[in-house]
Amino acid sequence: MQIRLEVAPLEQVDADALVVPIFDKESPGGGLPSESAQVANDLAGGWIEELYRSGEFSGKEFETAMLYRPPGIRARRLLVVGAGKSDRFTPAGLRKVTGAALRFLKPKSAPTIALALDAGEAAAEQAAAAVEGAILGDFEPDQLKTDKKDVKFVDTFTVVVPGGDESLGQTMWTAQVLAEAQNLARTLISEPANRMTPATLAARAREMAAEYGLECQVLDQDQMKELGMGALLGVAQGSAEPPVLILLRYRPLEEVGETHLGLVGKGITFDSGGISIKPSEGMDKMKYDMAGGAAVIGAMRAIAQLRPPIPVTALIPAVENMPGSRAQRPGDIVTTLSGKTVEVLNTDAEGRLILADALTYARTLGCTHLVDAATLTGAIVVALGHVTVGVFSSDDVLLQRVLSAARAEGEKMWPMPLDEDYKEQLKSAFADLPNVGTRWGGAVTAAMFLKEFADTTPWVHLDIAGTAWLEEAKPFLAKGPTGVAVRTLASLAANWT
Ligand code: BES
Ligand code: MN
Ligand code: ZN
Repeated sequence: MQIRLEVAPLEQVDADALVVPIFDKESPGGGLPSESAQVANDLAGGWIEELYRSGEFSGKEFETAMLYRPPGIRARRLLVVGAGKSDRFTPAGLRKVTGAALRFLKPKSAPTIALALDAGEAAAEQAAAAVEGAILGDFEPDQLKTDKKDVKFVDTFTVVVPGGDESLGQTMWTAQVLAEAQNLARTLISEPANRMTPATLAARAREMAAEYGLECQVLDQDQMKELGMGALLGVAQGSAEPPVLILLRYRPLEEVGETHLGLVGKGITFDSGGISIKPSEGMDKMKYDMAGGAAVIGAMRAIAQLRPPIPVTALIPAVENMPGSRAQRPGDIVTTLSGKTVEVLNTDAEGRLILADALTYARTLGCTHLVDAATLTGAIVVALGHVTVGVFSSDDVLLQRVLSAARAEGEKMWPMPLDEDYKEQLKSAFADLPNVGTRWGGAVTAAMFLKEFADTTPWVHLDIAGTAWLEEAKPFLAKGPTGVAVRTLASLAANWT
């Protein structure tokens, strides 16, 4: 989908559909407070006011009404889309409204879509949100459907800001980079585990790296053995698919300061649970257990385009967790790369095992700051549901950086506690650590386990188990992988300073 900026008057915009967000008529001061809504209403002979009066359309979020061959307007269709109350309107709201409008129009054969915004202070933020909403809304995880006869495409999405500044184009480009990177992550995640093995994920990362000028190195099983990544290899040994550790490196032309950011993503291409096998109900979804790894790959693509002044290294341990005849058993004790020994009491707590070695390795590569993203625990879903990412950190400064990047990108994240008192749960009779605690506070004990390996390096852990997969389609987003954390990770690096 091509993204364009148009600063001409609304009536001159050529498109199959011109979308105008319309506020709830019960907004303080009434409906139509936006310039574009007024203009569209006047051009179309009071049509929007008539809609309000009819009771058919009140401007609630995602309501739609369409006028064909609108008088006074060059576009073939005028679509008004409800944007909710004007005093509660945010860029995050506009992202959704735009996505919903695009998803409404797309099946109706509208290859060129334009969306009207007002010039002014908020224009840049709004244009960015609209671009993101359109690109994210356009995504459909239907690569493997062979019946394409009803598939329609949107070729061009134009943001119309009458009298706006051409510099909006730069902001829109950044938004496009971020949203397309997020869709790359969603594409990788939506691939089922038979098509997305550790080796395939490595191949896809390598392809991306070659295209965007990143360095890519893939450590194989022998190299990891040599290094001593006993925790990662223990998880891998139950599967016929050999594990890999994918490394992607971004280096700025000129470095500013001492920061070397490390992004680590959990890449379990399928989590059967291993010998501590999961119930079959819902197990199909465990193909998304590489969503953290995919998010990191997506973020690296955006970073390669946005070119921040700090080096960034990505580490994606990619492993399949299976109960094969060579699988590790509950009670096995593995030696991690750090030298610490771990008693594997539950083979389904595999994410922390592969991340432990990846975090240690990131430290040996000289990363000064670490952020990991992982579909780590069911417990975070109990705690925060499918709305908010759980954030754990040993370092307040890095935590605040991550949270403000998340806020700027409209990704909901919330800090969770990491407290020494939880460490009581991480005692093993036979090794330095067990890989599970008790039932209670499972997301925290998982994070406490990771902290042992991040050690003294400032580190943030994002538990995205509840947010990486959308169970049911929303008006603005397809069912399936969300690509959560891509925009936050990329923006964290891009705006470091
Ligand atoms: N990949 C799962 C976590 C998960 C659960 C992701 C639900 C997405 C949705 C992880 O590897 C896992 O199995 N965690 C266990 C840990 C337990 C054995 C301590 C869990 O959360 O049940
Ligand atoms: Mn598991
Ligand atoms: Zn898992």
